[in-house]
Amino acid sequence: MIEIKDLYKSYERVQALAGINLSIHSGELIGLIGANGAGKSTLLKCLTGLVMPDQGSIIIDGLDAAQQRQQIKSLIGYAPEAAELYPYLSGREFLDFIADMHQMPGAVKSDRIQHYLSLFDMGKKADVLIDDYSHGMRQKISLSAAMISQPSILIVDEPTNGLDPESVVHFKEELQAFVDRGCTILFSSHILDTVEKICHRVAVLHQGRLLAFDTMAELRRLAPAHGTLEELYMKLVKIS
Ligand SMILES: Nc1ncnc2c1ncn2[C@@H]1O[C@H](COP(=O)(O)OP(=O)(O)O)[C@@H](O)[C@H]1O
Ligand SMILES: [Mg+2]
Repeated sequence: MIEIKDLYKSYERVQALAGINLSIHSGELIGLIGANGAGKSTLLKCLTGLVMPDQGSIIIDGLDAAQQRQQIKSLIGYAPEAAELYPYLSGREFLDFIADMHQMPGAVKSDRIQHYLSLFDMGKKADVLIDDYSHGMRQKISLSAAMISQPSILIVDEPTNGLDPESVVHFKEELQAFVDRGCTILFSSHILDTVEKICHRVAVLHQGRLLAFDTMAELRRLAPAHGTLEELYMKLVKIS
């Protein structure tokens, strides 16, 4: 269970979050949508503990994010918007390093590394330095690193950016497997179509405020004339 109450965050003169309240149940796959600058990444960073909010609270599984950051960090797998990897390791070495940080037993480690390399069709590039990877290949390693420990909370910021269509399909299947195991997932995206198909509930952010947070069925009911999430989003932003 994730309880976000009255969350505010400003960077100098920019107010990135202006009073966010969100309650997320364990095992939910939540889509976070909004235009550039809406505050999506800031909200996700507050959850990971990378950004401290100015005001408000975040309680994750009974732990207070302001006071129990280390315990919360061990629950979370996070893939940021821009992958942060070590350029002078190969993809395989990077995943090996991350698995070691989680103190994963050797046999589990090699199975999971193999699983992600093959999920994202990275087998042939596994031993090439990350420095030589394309944006999409870095994204694949970053997502693999976030998922390799099978965290109980997975936070992925614009995860499908730069992925080839086949990898997007495999990634969505992997998210479904996480959901089946009871993992809570927060997924930010510009690609409304993907969010609409896979998320249990959708949070619509605009200028640091939450315009809506509901299931697609409920959101459609709120605005019957506006069928798709994209149309609904355009309508919500216009009336905000
Ligand atoms: N480190 C930062 N320093 C200053 N301003 C920032 C910083 N990070 C984000 N912002 C600003 O905060 C607002 C929200 O940004 P962000 O959370 O990245 O939104 P989104 O992920 O929805 O595009 C934007 O106006 C952005 O320019
Ligand atoms: Mg962002």
